[in-house]
Amino acid sequence: MKKLTSDELRQLYLDFFKAKGHTVIPSASVIPENDPTVLFTTAGMHPLVPYLMGAKHPEGNMLTDVQKCVRTGDIDEVGDNSHCTFFEMLGNWSLGAYFKEEAIAYSWEFLTDEKYLGIDKDKLYFTVFAGDEDAPRDMDAFNAWVKAGVDPSHIFFLPKKNNWWGPAGITGPCGTDSEMFYDTGKPACSDHCDPSCDCGKYLEIWNDVFMSYNKVADGVYEPLAQKNVDTGMGLERTVATINGLESVYDTDVFVPILAKISELSGKEYKESAETIKAFRIIADHIRCATFILGDPRGVTPSNVDQGYILRRLIRRAIRYAMQIGIPENSLSQVAQAVIDKYGHFYTELVDNKEKILTELANEELRFQRTLKNGIKEFEHIKGSFTDGIIDGKSAFRLYDTFGFPIEFTQEMAKENGLAVDVDGFNKAFEEHQKKSQLGAEQRFKGGLADQTEETAQLHTATHLLQAALRKVLDESVSQKGSNITAERLRFDFSYPRKVTKEELEEVEKLVNEAIEADVPVTCEEMTVDEAKAQGAIGLFENKYGSRVKVYTMGEYSKEICGGPHANRTGELGKFKIKKEEASSSGVRRIKAVLIKE
Ligand code: SER
Repeated sequence: MKKLTSDELRQLYLDFFKAKGHTVIPSASVIPENDPTVLFTTAGMHPLVPYLMGAKHPEGNMLTDVQKCVRTGDIDEVGDNSHCTFFEMLGNWSLGAYFKEEAIAYSWEFLTDEKYLGIDKDKLYFTVFAGDEDAPRDMDAFNAWVKAGVDPSHIFFLPKKNNWWGPAGITGPCGTDSEMFYDTGKPACSDHCDPSCDCGKYLEIWNDVFMSYNKVADGVYEPLAQKNVDTGMGLERTVATINGLESVYDTDVFVPILAKISELSGKEYKESAETIKAFRIIADHIRCATFILGDPRGVTPSNVDQGYILRRLIRRAIRYAMQIGIPENSLSQVAQAVIDKYGHFYTELVDNKEKILTELANEELRFQRTLKNGIKEFEHIKGSFTDGIIDGKSAFRLYDTFGFPIEFTQEMAKENGLAVDVDGFNKAFEEHQKKSQLGAEQRFKGGLADQTEETAQLHTATHLLQAALRKVLDESVSQKGSNITAERLRFDFSYPRKVTKEELEEVEKLVNEAIEADVPVTCEEMTVDEAKAQGAIGLFENKYGSRVKVYTMGEYSKEICGGPHANRTGELGKFKIKKEEASSSGVRRIKAVLIKE
């Protein structure tokens, strides 16, 4: 088996498919174009969807590339041997040119031929689709592997769960697939251990998808006019496998990045379980952040969409950098190591170097302020635990809102003679994860168009505006009307005179404080009487029925409403009042916008 570096594998793959008549195309942006349903490009096929559906690709019908991909669904798993938020996917495509037999023959040759990966045939295992009501058992793929030279005992038939790929969203191109696995030689974990088992005996290195179906809105799989092939090989994972390395973090990709972290922290990568985890998280997150910042369509940290994910990655890296003693404001040096490693191939990182380093440094400065607020919050709450135990919810709030790892909270608690309810924290954490996963799925499935999201955010801002007006002007202020477009909110309320410039500034300030506090927007169903008893404001009219939804935003607002709303106030951006004027007698009108960084 060849021992290749990441650069060598990338080049070998592209050269192999070029020699087979494919055109090498550049990686598309990591931020998808014209696709509001996903935040990042998660697979090589993403940018090619129109061509898989039948549009003509300007470079022909046989393509190959290495695609920058970001998958942040498993961000909390990063730190183990295999999870990364950024990775490179090697792929080759047939847009109606060749199909299963040729695709499988190419895969087999690349995997086993001495000129390429030269993997021992006995070490390779394969899976193919077992068949169901949507598509027949994939005997064509099975036969193609056998024809290529695979022993049938190395081929497993598995159901849709394992051997069907796509569509990437709710509809679109998809089909049966055939996956390729390397047997590490570890003993089987049970009599049922097969390549679908995740015990670590079999490592997946490549996936050939035979995209000949289009899943339509009612869930039916219609045959596509064109039979396509979409393959994907994870670069880092394959380099680890062929070099016999335990983890992707041991590959040449990460060596210089981990070395820089070691230099900055004065610690060794494998000093302890704690350093291994922290080094991996910093290396992974800063690598991903560097690619997002450096992308031609790159974004900057913010409280929305891709910018929000970027912010989470950087802040999580900062927490772990603090934990292992990396001095403040030095993560841009880790980003520099990433640029040095990749700049020759991904030249956009060199072109956008200033932006990458400056934005990272700015975000570090900003987060230090949040951290300080978190410390203040801790000082504020620590006296309120009469039993000496910080409850799970409070610990989770410190984690979620101020970015305190549980270990950090435990340490501070100990210094103050307190303990932490870690089980309660874990429970709150799991509940949150369930909710955010659900949120992510809904977003992906529903394809939340920008307008809907903007509207939800403006709607949320209206609640904060009403609460602020009642504080600054008078408790008797009440809503008289609301109108929201994608661009602005318009809010009519009872008040007898013009609102002064100073009062408007104060209102803006209060709303922005609530946004900066980044509190969750929670919803509860209750009776109108219960809502009144809790001090909720809103229109208590019959049209709401006997049970109502009450939306709460921390201490800032509690209001009866039907939704939809943002998940957290922090998503709103900056609130700015554009105009205050009379609407009708005794009713004033405010127009306001949310400005995104
Ligand atoms: N689309 C498939 C995957 O992501 C193959 O490229 O695995």
